Amino acid sequence: MENIKFDFNNMFEINVGEHGVGLGDIEELKEACQQAVRHLDKVFLNPQDKLNLSLAWIDLPCQSAEIIAKTKKLAAEINKKYENVIFLGIGGSYLGLKAASDALTSAYYNDFSSLRKKKPRVYFEGNNLDPQTLSVLLKSLKAKKTFVVVISKSGETTETKAAFSVVQAWLKKNAGPKYLRQIVAITDPSSGALRKKADMANQKDPDSFRSLDLLKGVGGRFSEFNMGLLHLAVCGINMEEVLSGARDMFKRCQNKQVLQNPAYMYALLHYILYKKKDKFIAIMMPFAETLKSTADWYSQLLGESLGKKYARKIIVNNDGTENWQMDKDKLVNVGRTPVSCRGTNDLHSIQQNNIEGRNDKAVTFIKIERFKNDIKLPVNKDILDGKSYGSLLSLAQEATQWALVREKRPNCTVILPEITPYYWGALLAFFQISIAFEAELLGINAFDQPGVEGYKNYMYFKLDKPGLCEAVKEQIRNNPLVKKPEFIL
Ligand code: PA5
Repeated sequence: MENIKFDFNNMFEINVGEHGVGLGDIEELKEACQQAVRHLDKVFLNPQDKLNLSLAWIDLPCQSAEIIAKTKKLAAEINKKYENVIFLGIGGSYLGLKAASDALTSAYYNDFSSLRKKKPRVYFEGNNLDPQTLSVLLKSLKAKKTFVVVISKSGETTETKAAFSVVQAWLKKNAGPKYLRQIVAITDPSSGALRKKADMANQKDPDSFRSLDLLKGVGGRFSEFNMGLLHLAVCGINMEEVLSGARDMFKRCQNKQVLQNPAYMYALLHYILYKKKDKFIAIMMPFAETLKSTADWYSQLLGESLGKKYARKIIVNNDGTENWQMDKDKLVNVGRTPVSCRGTNDLHSIQQNNIEGRNDKAVTFIKIERFKNDIKLPVNKDILDGKSYGSLLSLAQEATQWALVREKRPNCTVILPEITPYYWGALLAFFQISIAFEAELLGINAFDQPGVEGYKNYMYFKLDKPGLCEAVKEQIRNNPLVKKPEFIL
């Protein structure tokens, strides 16, 4: 089996001059890197730390045969009876599934039964409060032929909750009295409103509102190898291969030699460019249309994990386990800003800015060496005669690298031999490890998302949610949005 490769030549001074990393920059961080390696090793090895610090995602590729078999059985049952499956969820409960669908099922999967091969159409909802898609979808689908998978770790997320209540009412009205048999919840094993609902319905009728458990100690954006499994099975994607790719990458990235560890190097180089060369923007540009949503998945991973206000304070307990807290005395406001796009489409769009705008970006390309469904161009007395699309795409990627290097813009390339379940799983694992390592260098907690609470609290306040804490209410009351009519034209 070939490996994913990480080419970071264009991150260095040799190619991009003063905007790149020098060997001295790496030398300076030697001790910090070793400390980061030691610390990650320590916490990943401690089962209690893995659970308490939300690091248990590292174990997800080693799912038990029992879970895999159970998931496949459920998928087979769904696929036999239903023509459509709606997956409801947002953030980490959506982006991995969408990325897998786009990367690993056939293009135009929903449009042609010949491509679906007896599997249901797959739709994603609950990832926005915009009513336009859900309303059209429910007017168009047959309720009796539609299965619903609602995914929410907390069971409390407004977007998912709203969509679920609409979809549930639609099923109730149109699918008959046993409509709860058309629902599966994927949620926390013991807490949250969704868990409660599922358990109650399930007690009355074991075939109603069944549920799959999410592993404790894993945050949403790190959980594709858990919450995404049913979706993979429904779409007929080989989940063992996805998991095996992730497993192999996690193993490869256990290498304590940072210079030999692709994920650690990815993190280190971006950290140096961010800290010393003001490269604040992270452009993720796969050269593959079907990986655009994988770039979106990465945007969430980077944005929510590394965009943090406060440094991390590590409290070591008597038994050696750790607690991580926000150090409110250490305001850091760190984080690279993710931008997801794809080549070649966005070469006719944001690439102009990448090349000539502010030199505050580092570009990551994802390059595919071989395409399953490549096309050869017909002969037309043109320079493109007889060329394959794959070779042109590869040339366009090389040309984009060259154009960036000419303007001293740092960039790097993650190279996949092919887009297969194995390499896709490995790709996600690569980025997950790199985020954990970069967070160590930044001294922050990558596994929480306190900033997301702000908008949620404001909505809860306006919606009169019971139980909202008084201090939060007070803060919202005392800081209303200022709207001057003269500033609205
Ligand atoms: O990464 C995360 O933890 C978040 O993006 C969550 O996935 C997102 O907020 C949805 O949460 P939940 O699964 O609880 O509905």
